Amino acid sequence: MIYKKNDTTPYLIIANWKMYFSYKEACAWAATYSENIAQLLHDKNISFILCPSFDALANIAPAITHNKLYLGAQDCSAYQLGAYTGQIAAESLAQLACSYCLVGHSETRKYTTNIDVAQKVKQLLEWDICPIICIGETQKEYEQSRTIDVLTQQLEPLKNIFENRNITPYIAYEPIWSIGTDTVPTNNHLNYVYKSLDQLCARWNFKKPLFIYGGSVSVSTIKELNKVSYIRGILIGRASTDFQKIKTLVSLIEKD
Ligand code: PGA
Repeated sequence: MIYKKNDTTPYLIIANWKMYFSYKEACAWAATYSENIAQLLHDKNISFILCPSFDALANIAPAITHNKLYLGAQDCSAYQLGAYTGQIAAESLAQLACSYCLVGHSETRKYTTNIDVAQKVKQLLEWDICPIICIGETQKEYEQSRTIDVLTQQLEPLKNIFENRNITPYIAYEPIWSIGTDTVPTNNHLNYVYKSLDQLCARWNFKKPLFIYGGSVSVSTIKELNKVSYIRGILIGRASTDFQKIKTLVSLIEKD
C-alpha cells in the first residue's frame, strides 16, 4: 500500500501538463478546478503539485492558495540570470511561487546532459525549490537489462548536491517506454529498480530520497502501482488534464 492516512510525509500527486494546454486553457482549468482539488484533499495527507507550462505560472499562482496545493515548473535553466536566450532561471521560478520543479524529464533530458541536469538541481536548491529528479531508460536499454546502469549514470552527477540541504530529494522513476503508452512496468521490475536505487543512494551517502513513479499512471494502472511500497507519489501526464480522472485517482490511492 502506498499511502496511509497516518503517514507523516505527504504523498505527492504531480500533474505534469506538458504542453497539452494553451495559455488560456491552462488558466481556465486552474481557475475552475483548484478549489475542487483542495476539497478532494482536505482530509488526506496528499500534496498536489500542478506543473503548467511556464507561460501560465504567473496567472495560476494566485489560485494555488490551499496548503495542500503547490505550483511546480516543468524545467529550469542550469544557469543563473545572464545571457541565455529562451531560458527560465530558478530565481524567477521562486518569484513566481514555484515550490517544486521537474528536472531531467525524458522529454527535456534528451536535449541536454546528465551534468546539466545536476546544474539545474543546484540552481533550484539555491532558491529553495524542491527538485523532482526524473530518470528513466529507453525500451532498448530495458530490453538489454541496462536499466540500473542508465539510472546510475543519470544520478551520478547529483551525488553530493544534497549535502547540508534541508530539501528531500524526490527521484521519479519514469521508464521512457512507459510514458504515454498505457504500459507500466511489472511490480517485480519496479521493486527491483527502487531497491537498487535505495542501495545505490545509501552507498553514495546520497541523502535518503523519496521515490515517485511516472509513466501511464491512470485509473486502470494505479491499483497495481499501489502495491509497490517504495512509491511515495505519482507523476501524471495525460490523465492530469482531466479533473474526473484526478478525482478517481485520489480516491484509489487512499488506504486505511
Ligand atoms: P503519462 O506521462 O502519464 O502521459 O504517461 C507521464 C510523464 O511524462 O511524466
